[in-house]
Amino acid sequence: MSVAEGLSRQSGVLALGGVALDRVLPALRRLEPGAAACWVYDLDLIEARARRFQAAFGPFGVRSAYALKANALPSLLARVRRAGLAAEAGSIGELRIAQRAGFAAADRILNGNGRTDAEAAFAAHEGVHSINADHIDELTLLDQHAARAGVRVRVALRVNPGIPTHGHAYVATGDDDAKFGVAPADALEAWAARDRWPALRLDGLHLHVGSQLLDPGPLERAADTARELAEESARRRAPLGFVNLGGGFGVDYSGAGAEFPVESHAGRLARRLSALGAEWLVEPGRWLVAPAGVLLAEVLWVKHRSAGGRGGRRFVVLAAGMNDLIRPALYQAHHRIVPVRARAGAEEPAVVVGPVCESADVFERDAALPPLERGDVVAILDVGAYGVVMSSNYNGRSRLAELVVSAGRLARARAGEEVEALGARERDDAVEL
Ligand code: LLP
Repeated sequence: MSVAEGLSRQSGVLALGGVALDRVLPALRRLEPGAAACWVYDLDLIEARARRFQAAFGPFGVRSAYALKANALPSLLARVRRAGLAAEAGSIGELRIAQRAGFAAADRILNGNGRTDAEAAFAAHEGVHSINADHIDELTLLDQHAARAGVRVRVALRVNPGIPTHGHAYVATGDDDAKFGVAPADALEAWAARDRWPALRLDGLHLHVGSQLLDPGPLERAADTARELAEESARRRAPLGFVNLGGGFGVDYSGAGAEFPVESHAGRLARRLSALGAEWLVEPGRWLVAPAGVLLAEVLWVKHRSAGGRGGRRFVVLAAGMNDLIRPALYQAHHRIVPVRARAGAEEPAVVVGPVCESADVFERDAALPPLERGDVVAILDVGAYGVVMSSNYNGRSRLAELVVSAGRLARARAGEEVEALGARERDDAVEL
C-alpha cells in the first residue's frame, strides 16, 4: 500500500525505498549504541524527482541549480548532480561543499545578502557561473576582487519586485517587508551604468519571491516582472543576458494531493520568457528533496494528563525535538506523523512533542494516532528539506545520524554526533589584544 511517494506499508510496517523502517534504528544502534532517532533519505526518489524537474524545464533551455541550503548531504548532492542540475550556494560554506561534491565552476551560483570578502575572493579565484548581488554597493566589492584576480565575474542583481505570497511571512522574500534585493529602478540604473564595474559582467536579473508556494501565481507574476525589466533595460541599451527566477516550488505536506504543477508551470514560464532571448535559470530546493526524507524517532514516553472535566490529553514524547526539526516551532509547519508499525486500536487525539525544555517543542498539537507505547517508533514525513540543515545542539543535544536508502540498501551517510563532541571546541586560549 502506498502511503506517499517512496513510502509504502508492507505487512503493516512502513517502508522507504523498499527498506522496512522498523529495522533501521536497531541496525543503527550496532554503530551508535544510544541512537533513538535518525534521518533517512531515499536517494533513488531524490534522483527521480531531479530528473522529473529537469525533464520539465530542460526542454525549454532552462538551467536548474539545486539550492544546497535545503539539504547538502554529499551523497544526495551526487544524485542531484548526476541528474544534470547545477548548484546554488548561499554562503562560502555551501560553495565549498558544492565544489567538493564535484560541481564545476560553471555550475555554481552564489546567493546571499551579506556578501563577504571571502565569498568574493572564492568567486574570482575558483570561479562561479554567476553571483546574485543583493545591493549596489556590493558590486564594488565584487569588482575589486575580480580585477585583482584578473578575471571577469558574471553578476545578476537581485530585485525585490514587491510581490506578496501566501504562506508564512518568514519565507516570503519578494515583498516590501523582506530584506532582500534592490528596487527595480535602482537595478535599471545599475545595468545602464555597468561600465562602472569593468571587471564584472553585470547582465543578469535575479528574483526569488518566496518558498513553499503551491500556487504558481506569484512565480508567474515574478516572470512577468522579469520580462518587463529585461525589456526596459534593453530599451536603455543595457540588454540582459540571463534571468534567474529563484526557487519556491512547494510540496504537499498535507498528503491531500496539493502538488505544485511543475510541468505545466514550466510551460507557462517558457511562453512568458521565450521571446527574451536570454539564458534562463531556476533554483529549486525543497521540491527536489523534501518528500524523500523521514525523521524516525522512538517514543520515549506516553503521558496522559487529566484535566478536571475537560477529558485530559495524551502527550507522546519523542526522542527527537525542535533542535532536530525546527519547522513546526518556527513556521507552524505541519508534518504528518505516522507510526512505523501501527498497533491495533482506534486513532485518538495526541499532542506529539519533543524532549526540549520549551513549550514550542511541539511537532503536532492535534494529531490522530493509534495506541502508542514507550519504545514504538514514529516517522515524521517530508523532512528531506530544511530539516537537518536547521538543526542545532540546543539543550546539549547532539545532532542525529543521517542514513540513505538506495536500491533497497541502507547506509549511514553521516554519523550522529557523540555527546563528547559537544565539548570539542572548548578552549582556554589567551587572546592577545
Ligand atoms: N534561491 C534562493 C535565493 C533562496 O533563498 C532559496 C531558499 C531557494 C532558492 C530555494 O527555495 P525553495 O525552492 O526551497 O523554496 N527554512 C524554510 C525555507 C527557507 C527558504 C530559504 N531560501 C522552511 O523550512 O520552510
